[in-house]
Amino acid sequence: PRRIFSGIQPTGQIHLGNYLGAIAQWVKMQDNNEDMLISIVDLHSMTLPHDPKQLEKNILEMTATLLGCGIDPEKVTLFQQSTVHQHTELCWNLACVATMARLAHLPCYKEKSASLRDIPLGLFIYPVLQAADILLYKSTQVPVGEDQIQHIELCQELSRMFNNKFGQTFPHPHALITGAEYARLRSLRDPSKKMSKSDPDPKSRICLLDKPDNILNNIKKAVTDFKSEVTYDPAERLGVSNLISIHSFVTNKSVEDIVLEANNLNTGQYKLMVADAVISHFKPIQDKIAHLVEDPQYLLDVLKQGTEKASVIAEKTTEEVRNKLGINPSI
Ligand code: TYM
Repeated sequence: PRRIFSGIQPTGQIHLGNYLGAIAQWVKMQDNNEDMLISIVDLHSMTLPHDPKQLEKNILEMTATLLGCGIDPEKVTLFQQSTVHQHTELCWNLACVATMARLAHLPCYKEKSASLRDIPLGLFIYPVLQAADILLYKSTQVPVGEDQIQHIELCQELSRMFNNKFGQTFPHPHALITGAEYARLRSLRDPSKKMSKSDPDPKSRICLLDKPDNILNNIKKAVTDFKSEVTYDPAERLGVSNLISIHSFVTNKSVEDIVLEANNLNTGQYKLMVADAVISHFKPIQDKIAHLVEDPQYLLDVLKQGTEKASVIAEKTTEEVRNKLGINPSI
């Protein structure tokens, strides 16, 4: 049987990459009657220096954001990672299987640690915790954006290594990349890079809670190329194609129809059309989020219900893992 698991860090604001590459895909999948868990991974948000007050606020805001985007807590087990304490236990168990050499090779680690003089140990074992998230629920499908592929590959290896040493326990988790054009949304300032929350230039991204003016300005300033016509060519014309992908998603129109529609516009005029479409797509979602944020009790109730459901599965796997590891003596 399939079980779907994914996670998102409770960082202040989500951007269009998170939304198109992950959250919107989850919302589509939840209607297929599948077994699905989504975790707000607060422990992952502590791997770089953080502000406790801010994190507390962000956890509830992320809950409101996911619900506002259409995640239905009746269909999906939505929970806060740290409230299911078995995640950290499995992380330790897998850390005893993983090797330093393998973790040091991960590009994400190299990138994040490059600018640090003292590297927190948590940053180093971050992907092991992510593997624990996935395997704790014996998940088989993990819908993520392209930047997470290497982490899923590590998880597959740890699953295999654990099974080989201690007996068949975990399934093989597959990365699920839906809609290739959304799996790697690009930076508006440098289309050769992905849109990222850690890019120091806020003009490189569109955030879900941005004001209309802000969205318009950032899209107007989006870097394209020297050609003025609107054509879709994701290999050669990264910038314009990125805008067309965004436009296609928020209007639910095909890329072909959009290119036809923009036939006699230059890229400057076309950007206004894209900004308009993004702003109207975001409006009802922003309203819902604003409304939900006003009711923290409801958000806490949703999370609590998620914790209860997730804990049942987590405890079952944990018992099995303890038995396999020989830390469950009995007569
Ligand atoms: P996070 O919080 O950085 O991102 C959440 C999701 O957004 C996707 N994403 C993008 N998709 C397309 N284009 C982009 N420019 C873009 N930027 C981000 C990410 O791929 C991700 O799917 N380590 C994870 C969280 C995590 C997790 C897990 C995920 C922890 N445990 C277990 C899956 C399974 C992270 O930091 O995602």
